[in-house]
Amino acid sequence: MRDLGLRLDAILSTRSSTGKLFLSLAHLEKQGHAKLLKFKRVQGITDAEFLEHLTDEARHAHQLKKDAEGLGADATVDHFTRSYLTRLEVFILRKLRAQGPRPQPRAPYVLMTYVIEKRAEALYPALEARLRKLRKPLSVEQIIQDEAQHLRSMEAELGDLRIDPALIQECRAFEARLFEKFILRI
Ligand SMILES: [Fe+2]
Ligand SMILES: [Fe+2]
Repeated sequence: MRDLGLRLDAILSTRSSTGKLFLSLAHLEKQGHAKLLKFKRVQGITDAEFLEHLTDEARHAHQLKKDAEGLGADATVDHFTRSYLTRLEVFILRKLRAQGPRPQPRAPYVLMTYVIEKRAEALYPALEARLRKLRKPLSVEQIIQDEAQHLRSMEAELGDLRIDPALIQECRAFEARLFEKFILRI
């Protein structure tokens, strides 16, 4: 999204839309946690790094939810936001299946997590910069540190899986369209 900074400025200009942003981000983090749990169940991924990622996403959801409640945000998000990661997952699974009959078992997990972490890499530092500029008593600094670590590990796994770079770009482009709709709804 070209005007993310402007959009964030507009959102952070009122307490209610700031609350809605934090509530919606909490929901995305919760969805991330739920998708990781599903990968754990379906594919039996249980390495320590994966388990740490799982607890990090739960902590992010908790922190953002607490912040949203502190801002007086009400407790509902719309259907589009609630289905964000499922829409992305359906797209990624369809694309992987189209590549051949037997996608590598870890490919859906790695590709989806990578795309999400690239979003986090673009969004959270832009948000943190504005929170500091506006001297808000809110911070996503710890989330930035955690997501950077997750991204590094997904980049390493992507390299091992040799997923077609054009496919990765298609998935990122699809997610970018989801994100644009998401942020314009706040
Ligand atoms: Fe997260
Ligand atoms: Fe993450």
